[in-house]
Amino acid sequence: MLSSSILTGLVLGMASIMPAIAQSACNGQSAYCDRKYSNVTQVGAHDSPFVGLLLSDNQNLNVTGQLDLGVRFLQGQTHKSLVDDTILLCHTSCLLEDAGTLESYLATVKTWLDSNPDEVVTLLLTNDDSLPVAQFGDVFTSAGLKDYAFVPSSSPSTLAIDAWPTLRELIGNGTRLVAFLDYGADASTVPYILDEFAYFFETPYDVTDATFSNCSIDRPAGASATGRMYIVNHFLDVDILGILIPDRERAPETNAVSGSGSIGAQSDLCESMYGRLPNFLLLDFVDQGEPIAAQSALNGV
Ligand SMILES: *[C@@H]1O[C@H](CO)[C@@H](O)[C@H](O)[C@H]1NC(C)=O
Ligand SMILES: *[C@@H]1O[C@H](CO)[C@@H](O)[C@H](O)[C@H]1NC(C)=O
Ligand SMILES: *[C@@H]1O[C@H](CO)[C@@H](O)[C@H](O)[C@H]1NC(C)=O
Ligand SMILES: *[C@@H]1O[C@H](CO)[C@@H](O)[C@H](O)[C@H]1NC(C)=O
Repeated sequence: MLSSSILTGLVLGMASIMPAIAQSACNGQSAYCDRKYSNVTQVGAHDSPFVGLLLSDNQNLNVTGQLDLGVRFLQGQTHKSLVDDTILLCHTSCLLEDAGTLESYLATVKTWLDSNPDEVVTLLLTNDDSLPVAQFGDVFTSAGLKDYAFVPSSSPSTLAIDAWPTLRELIGNGTRLVAFLDYGADASTVPYILDEFAYFFETPYDVTDATFSNCSIDRPAGASATGRMYIVNHFLDVDILGILIPDRERAPETNAVSGSGSIGAQSDLCESMYGRLPNFLLLDFVDQGEPIAAQSALNGV
């Protein structure tokens, strides 16, 4: 009969080697496990909370549906509630479209992470009403996401682009949520809410050129590409009497693997400018076209 101390030793011994053997696939592919987070191309859902058939809606699938489809990068706009201090997900204004509280959205992401242990999800929130980062931290805590959030070893300094862990390391460490805020992040206040523009540059947004012929750096203004990952705003708008609305009709071509204005074509253009592929491409209507096939092709899997 094994003594309980031997049993405990065995269990602890097994637990300590678990992180090294646990994942045979990371974000759906074994080939991604040993790639640095900063060296994987991932498609994302732009305005991921705005789901439906309104002219202002950007997505057909809700956040769970987006994640189930294979999307691992979620972007959302936050605003202060018109009546109290609650952080809401609103489109431009809470009068135009209110998609509920950030807490409820984050709780949905947490539920999904709980049932999908080999997945790393990246979140990019915008802080349209310049709310204090501590208030975002409170919401991450109450939604139960704080414990999943990655804190760089360099914190509060920015982690260098080539110092990022691999997806396997993120999964093994249980830090499977990487969260960025566009403005107002402060790593010394909330270490897991990372400063988007310290880590990335972005190409222009609100693009109405269906060929997506521009990969120039739009934000941060005057930034250098060196040392930054990058996000390509690959969602097409159509200008209707001066108002930009998501181009639902062209989404199958915009989100195609290849062809004029496709995910593949814009990625090729950007790669020719920066010598490396985009880290993230933000898309409207992720259920249209073939975003996941495009992502696989770009990553060579
Ligand atoms: C998301 O969409 C699916 C499919 O339409 C639906 O079953 C599910 O209840 C929705 N989830 C939420 C949180 O709205
Ligand atoms: C994993 O977690 C340990 C303990 O918190 C930490 O020291 C280490 O830097 C983490 N590794 C990565 C890759 O994040
Ligand atoms: C490409 O984008 C940059 C950055 O936003 C902008 O300055 C430039 O005018 C754009 N070029 C064209 C041809 O639209
Ligand atoms: C990852 O590294 C390979 C090899 O250097 C490079 O071709 C590719 O563009 C990189 N991808 C990203 C997203 O950095």
